[in-house]
Amino acid sequence: MNRHEATSRTAQLYARALQSLPGGVSRNTVLRKPHPLYAERGEGCRVTDIEGVERIDFANNMASLIHGHAHPAITDAVSQQLKKGTAFTLATEVEVRFAEHLLGRNPSFDKLRFVNSGTEAVMGAVKASRAFTGRAKIAKVEGAYHGQYDYAEVSQTANPGNWGSAEHPQSVPVARGTPPAALADVVVIPFNDTEAALAILQQHKGELACVLMDLLPHRVGMTPANAEFVTAIREWTSQDGALFVLDEVITFRTEVGGVQTRYEVTPDITALGKIIGGGFPVGAIAGSAEVMEVMNPLAEKVLFPHSGTFSANPITMTAGLTAMELYDEAAVAHLNVLGERTRSGIEDAIRKTGIDACVTGGGSMLRVHLKPSPPRDYRAAYPTPEEGRRLTLLLDHLFEQGFMMINTCSVALSTVMGNEEIDALVAAMESGFVKVMAEGE
Ligand SMILES: Cc1ncc(COP(=O)(O)O)c(C=O)c1O
Repeated sequence: MNRHEATSRTAQLYARALQSLPGGVSRNTVLRKPHPLYAERGEGCRVTDIEGVERIDFANNMASLIHGHAHPAITDAVSQQLKKGTAFTLATEVEVRFAEHLLGRNPSFDKLRFVNSGTEAVMGAVKASRAFTGRAKIAKVEGAYHGQYDYAEVSQTANPGNWGSAEHPQSVPVARGTPPAALADVVVIPFNDTEAALAILQQHKGELACVLMDLLPHRVGMTPANAEFVTAIREWTSQDGALFVLDEVITFRTEVGGVQTRYEVTPDITALGKIIGGGFPVGAIAGSAEVMEVMNPLAEKVLFPHSGTFSANPITMTAGLTAMELYDEAAVAHLNVLGERTRSGIEDAIRKTGIDACVTGGGSMLRVHLKPSPPRDYRAAYPTPEEGRRLTLLLDHLFEQGFMMINTCSVALSTVMGNEEIDALVAAMESGFVKVMAEGE
């Protein structure tokens, strides 16, 4: 049955969903026109929807499935744990083993705490920074997505109508009713512009708890942070007494110890999430022993009391530990080679077709922009209405050809992919470019 027909199972399910879920969905990312698709099952890098259509999954649940779907080692380990119980008002051995594993991946991680999402990890990192410094304000990069915490989401959806001057980006709320005090406590800096960013930070000397940053920020354009910018910001925070917090919720996949290990800086705190859950909800706050002490419940005065009902539940811990043990140095290197093959394949397709497009990214991630050159920052990456229309055409084409993408035309690879899947995506991208160019005329 054609899945677009009003009578298809998918259309019927969506009609029902509209009655119980706002917009018919539980998260906006799965919304598609005329309706979202519903997954039946996934295996390896392929997902089958309830109409029986199979696609290659380059979205991997928003970059969270490093080994694709239903990896046998993870499924086996979790099945064993399921029979023993899923959550206790007790600690478990596996949380200690998983903490030890993650600390072993990066020398800047002395201690960590598990939470249930990337949003919660960033929130915990910000609150730990405040507790450590006794300061309320934070600084963040314009356009960067760090989850849904009021402070961390400021300016994430800024647009040309409200983002203000380049020298003084406005603190733009995402949700209506965001407390003005939250906006006033968030300082917005431009990405990869050292001079402008430092000039803004200087105006808030002694006020900031932390500067929060993603070194390969998806929504900012997925252009890597340049080394000079990162070093300058780190140095500024050290001199000012603010903390330097890295959001590696997505980027941890890039190297064994995260993308930060490509830079000559050491953060005070790192927020983790996504792949470290092995397919289950997760987050973690990792940092120096000195800073993480604010969470120590054995201290005389606990500066940041921290808990969570499902934090470090043994299902997530088991899945996460299994997934991350499998994602060792060789697996990371292999996946990054595949990432390079994808990026250079798409760049070839751009050259061949002559389309105004470019590829950004790093490691096992990439983003395609329908712009002639890689954007430096959020403002440059912001699609014009025409680029947005062309991007939707391209995404629809890829979907029809059997490729699931992240809706910004971004890709997060999984270890169960090989050259065959990469080359198929590159070919579909090339035919998509041809189509976009033809329809754009
Ligand atoms: C960089 C970054 N930080 C934080 C988050 C929030 O993570 P979660 O959706 O698990 O709350 C995301 C999610 O996409 C993210 O990409």
